Amino acid sequence: MCGIIGYCGPLDAQKVLIDGLTQLEYRGYDSAGIALFDENSNIHFIKKVGKVAALKKVCEASPISSHCGIGHTRWATHGGVTSENAHPHMYGHITMIHNGIIENYQELTEAFHLKGKLLSQTDTEVSAAVLNELYKGDPLSAIRGLLSHLKGSYAFCIMFDDRPGEIYAVRNVSPLVAAYTGSGAMIASDLTALLPYSKKYFVVPEGKIIRLTAYQVSVFDICGNREAPDYMEASWNTDAAMKNGFPHYMLKEIHEQPEVLKQTVLPRLKNGLPDFTAEGIPDSMLKSVTEIRIIACGTAMHAGMVARSIIEPGLRIPVTVSIASEFRYEEPMITQNTLTIVISQSGETIDTLAALRLAASCHSPVISVVNVKGSTIARESDYVIYTHGGPEIAVASTKAYTVQIAALYLLFCRMALVRGLYTDEQARQFTSTLLKCSDTMEAMIGRKDLIREAVSHICDSPNAFFIGRGMDYAFSLEGALKLKEISYIHSEAYAAGELKHGTIALITDLVPVIAIATQKNILAKTISNIREVKARGAFVILLITEQTKTDDDLADLVIRIPETDDKFTVFPIAVVLQLIAYYTSVQKGLDVDQPRNLAKSVTVE
Ligand code: F6R
Repeated sequence: MCGIIGYCGPLDAQKVLIDGLTQLEYRGYDSAGIALFDENSNIHFIKKVGKVAALKKVCEASPISSHCGIGHTRWATHGGVTSENAHPHMYGHITMIHNGIIENYQELTEAFHLKGKLLSQTDTEVSAAVLNELYKGDPLSAIRGLLSHLKGSYAFCIMFDDRPGEIYAVRNVSPLVAAYTGSGAMIASDLTALLPYSKKYFVVPEGKIIRLTAYQVSVFDICGNREAPDYMEASWNTDAAMKNGFPHYMLKEIHEQPEVLKQTVLPRLKNGLPDFTAEGIPDSMLKSVTEIRIIACGTAMHAGMVARSIIEPGLRIPVTVSIASEFRYEEPMITQNTLTIVISQSGETIDTLAALRLAASCHSPVISVVNVKGSTIARESDYVIYTHGGPEIAVASTKAYTVQIAALYLLFCRMALVRGLYTDEQARQFTSTLLKCSDTMEAMIGRKDLIREAVSHICDSPNAFFIGRGMDYAFSLEGALKLKEISYIHSEAYAAGELKHGTIALITDLVPVIAIATQKNILAKTISNIREVKARGAFVILLITEQTKTDDDLADLVIRIPETDDKFTVFPIAVVLQLIAYYTSVQKGLDVDQPRNLAKSVTVE
């Protein structure tokens, strides 16, 4: 949450910062601002409420010649969405941008007698004021002093008014990556902002202080000793973070799914069998664990629920799926025999990270399924299965969900194999069907016109229901989340059999119901539940497989997915649900990629 960028070098700093903020905007878009050293070493600020485009317009109208500056795009936590609360914040010698939450900002306000002296309601300005108090001409020692006072998470970029051409940065939990590129030094919340300049980058180590100048990026440990940064190479290319002719990132990312599924699965197949040697995951551990805890947030948690539906029945061991923000407070029973699987596209979601740390402290082996290379969750896990989804820019997650499921399915298959529950032949059959899901997704992308027709029955409704049983219920949860977050239609997912215990009271002829019925073992029962809502007047959009026979009067509109093994219907169904949400948002004229109140990468609790 919140995007940060800093640049020192020969290029036009104002342009570099605005371009970077445009790339980072998905991290938050309540307000944006930049601060620049001009050629006379004076600092200039520009801040605007709203999106980066508004800031860009002002900047273009009055360009500032600069080669050093910092920029921020905000997702509001402390203090409303106002220009006073927009970053950068200036206090005395200090100009600062921040991503994170300083938990003890009220105590610091009192301890440093700041009441009445601050212009904003932010914890960031408090931090800037404390740093100003501590600053006696030595940035490193002042920053060290500041860190000793702070409780919470932070990524700061700081300029001192008497140190033109220098940017300092430090972080705890909140992400920062940096690089010395061919055209200057850069630092940013995530890689997408650096990619146009460099594929080589390093993750800023926690607690280390970074100094950027036009000539180098230096890393200092807490005693002030220099350290060599640990550079890594990005596998993503610049193109991957562009729209490439699609009207929205979300649509582009939906279309990428058939390809990225293969990219995630193929490198992990050896003779058709799943293989995690490269990840170092020992078969002995996969064989000996007696239960599995899956922990994640939002869409990633829904991916975990789908995986649970095949893992528990397939391995005959208990599998629970927890919402990461709840997990820590449930006083969970975890032992060294519990395999913990955390799932996160960004690898930075703070609740998921906290859950991981709790599980690790109980000596549970932790496997993370992560998209972003080198992210905190990836680095702190015992084993990482990277999904090769490429950058996901739209706030609503699409391709990350399907590749997470693909990675978890592969892991399940390996576990079934090493536990003697699958023969090689069965495992090969499984992975071959998984790969073919690429085609079933492609087929549904090709049926977008039918899906668009369904949307015309949803668009004007204030409410919608998604119903299903078993795995179909897990898919419904994701369908409802996708629709509500980008169309603002109140959507609920319900286990179809549970409706009659209260919620069916809400079903009228004004409520569209998206019914998912792909699971053969429970089809007859799901169909009875669909009849119950149809009898109450609901407009039913039915999602079923090609060969499932249904009576004509069961639904008002039927969308058929290719026939496939029940375990794999999630892939084509996910495409349908994503496109329903996408076209509804488009038809309502909403901001598909950056829906209100949301931000990608939730780095606050
Ligand atoms: C919804 C969505 C979120 C994320 C959730 C977890 O479309 O994107 O629900 O899935 O915030 O994020 P990661 O996967 O980055 O941990």
